[in-house]
Amino acid sequence: MQLHVLNHPLVEHKLTVLRDKNTPSNIFRELVSELVSLEAYEATRNLAVEDREIETPICTMTGKHLTNPRPMVVPILRAGLGMLDGMTRLLPTAEVGFLGMKRDEDTLDIITYANRLPEDLTGRQCFLLDPMLATGGTTVAATHYLAERGAKDITSINIIAAPEGLKRVEETLDPSIDFKVVVCGVDERLNEHGYIVPGLGDAGDRLYGLI
Ligand code: URA
Repeated sequence: MQLHVLNHPLVEHKLTVLRDKNTPSNIFRELVSELVSLEAYEATRNLAVEDREIETPICTMTGKHLTNPRPMVVPILRAGLGMLDGMTRLLPTAEVGFLGMKRDEDTLDIITYANRLPEDLTGRQCFLLDPMLATGGTTVAATHYLAERGAKDITSINIIAAPEGLKRVEETLDPSIDFKVVVCGVDERLNEHGYIVPGLGDAGDRLYGLI
């Protein structure tokens, strides 16, 4: 597993405002979107490109162009949806699949309740979107889900990660998967309810309000 933590004053500033419990949902959504675009720049550093010959107004040249198959962006419902527009703003040609996963709040087990993904992901570069990498359970389950369909190059984009979750992902994932994590920050720990400390609370509730 490769871990990349964005280290930039703008990211630190936006993350502080995001964490503040007094930040309203509309600002929270905007900040998530901006942070994801910054993360997407880093996360897509190794996107596959091929040569393409074009004509500029001046001459012919060979430039780089994203290859097929198109990258696959997979928000994990529900909170991952809040990261989608920040990602597709930078990568508008990506295909978007969906995975519905949630935590059983008592056992902390992961339940997959929905999926909309191609059966064959061979050769696809995949990007998982989930704001909080907490216990790591969702990340492991989602990565295995994609890997079982042939994906070998998978990047998890999260806003905040907990050390316990990163450790679990590192220890559990099949090392043959080229797996990266891009985050804005790694926090102190998980509390007894599986929330990240200091964290930002429940990302889904803060994006969409309490249901
Ligand atoms: N999910 C959240 O939304 N927040 C946490 O702190 C942990 C998991």
